[in-house]
Amino acid sequence: MKILLAASECEPYVKVGGLGDVVSSLAVALRKLGHDARIVLPKYGNINWVTECHAVGGPMIVNMGYGVEFAQLLETTYNDVTVYFIEFNKYFDRPAVYGEFGGSYDDNWQRFAFFSRAVLDMCAFLDWQPDVIHCNDWPTGIIPPLLSVYNKPDILNNTKSICTIHKMAHHGYAPKELLRFVGLYDHYWHPFAMEACNAINVMKGALQFADKITTVSSSYAKEIMTKEGGCGLDDVLRYRANDLIGICNGINDDIWSPEHDKFIPKNYSVRTLKNKSVCKKELQNMSGLPQRDELPIFAVISRFFWQKGLDVLCYVLPDILRDMAVQFVVLGSGEHDLEQRFLQISKSFPEKLFVKIGFDNALSHLIEAGSDFFVMPSRYEPCGLNQMYSMKYGTLPIVRATGGLIDTVENYDESTGNGTGFVFNDLTSSAIYNTIGWACYTFFNKKSQIKVMQKRGMKQDFSWRKSAKMYEKIYRAVV
Ligand code: ADP
Ligand code: GLC
Repeated sequence: MKILLAASECEPYVKVGGLGDVVSSLAVALRKLGHDARIVLPKYGNINWVTECHAVGGPMIVNMGYGVEFAQLLETTYNDVTVYFIEFNKYFDRPAVYGEFGGSYDDNWQRFAFFSRAVLDMCAFLDWQPDVIHCNDWPTGIIPPLLSVYNKPDILNNTKSICTIHKMAHHGYAPKELLRFVGLYDHYWHPFAMEACNAINVMKGALQFADKITTVSSSYAKEIMTKEGGCGLDDVLRYRANDLIGICNGINDDIWSPEHDKFIPKNYSVRTLKNKSVCKKELQNMSGLPQRDELPIFAVISRFFWQKGLDVLCYVLPDILRDMAVQFVVLGSGEHDLEQRFLQISKSFPEKLFVKIGFDNALSHLIEAGSDFFVMPSRYEPCGLNQMYSMKYGTLPIVRATGGLIDTVENYDESTGNGTGFVFNDLTSSAIYNTIGWACYTFFNKKSQIKVMQKRGMKQDFSWRKSAKMYEKIYRAVV
């Protein structure tokens, strides 16, 4: 099949969170299954050009509702997958994807509406007829409604759309003028189409018009059909329940494997797990924490947003650092208050807590390899990748029981030694304190069970092949 993955992020070119990891690894996995999977992205100002890229033809016409624009199409190849970039500097030649300093650009609705329309015109420009356009989250959410109207390029008359929800909380609100801006009819301003609360809700449009909807874990698929998890669109999802399926993300073993990781000082596997301590030493060295192998390192790598529950962790972190023999390493950025709070705590506990504000891919690999535990107290987590990376690296995840975290981490059972991590239910400071305390106790007193759990986690199959086959089934169903 011919599958076009349209997205706002894609590793290794541009990544804000897990969406970037998923888009490239899914495309590569589909390619390995023999499909003609391609990717299309906006050409932002901060693209990491790891592969050589060239212009495709002359200017490409983009048929907006208000008239035509001219963009430039660029093309490159990543692991046998063709990747297109749509260059239109007015909207995309900026230093960030969605916004700077934890905020959003005011014209995001125009930027991504333009991109979505350009994706359709690109197919005509290339004379390439995808069987499926696979959209991801609201930035490409106008594609399914655009495919439902007659003024789309003829080449797309038989093209179907799939929308994957990576996060339900972001809808992409826009004024009514979005319709004319992008070339949709006024009657899409309707509660059964794209209108919600007197605005255009792009995510709602995607969910109404996509041929199938997927999200990134089975538990999250159930959660978003409830009032609590649906962020106001649960009724739309219940209405489309027969077309909604949860497919757990995989992980890209070429990038995330302690055996081959290029960013860590010593590679290791289940058989050479003792080499992990070299990575721990290097992490302590790099972060200026005392080089004490006997202390457990707890890690956080995250976007600092409400979703991640880190505000509650911050609340109890000083108690944990005061009461327990632990070290903490935190890497992340986002909400200014949270950044400041972590930095403030690190000033009070310089021997125990290292905080780095920013996005640092190399360091994130070292942290996964060098830590003993990985903490994810998410309020909600559609899938989550770091708990899977952690298990692969023999780092035990400590997660709240939500979304993809429950689907991928099995709670430790003290009586049998079973499990792959530590799971707690309530997002409260006492639950976090107690679970970290429990992990600490186990680390000091039940070393053999910790080792068995590490090895069990490392042996799990999180490969993309399984998930890609499920996507393949969905594509076949709509085609
Ligand atoms: P989300 O997409 O909600 O942020 P995921 O767990 O799915 O959560 O994916 C997050 C991805 O982004 C992981 O690959 C993680 O390592 C990476 N990441 C998040 N913050 C940082 C950071 N500050 N530096 C490096 N990598 C980061
Ligand atoms: C989102 C979710 C995260 C998921 C990622 C990739 O950013 O927050 O849970 O793993 O998308 O699907």
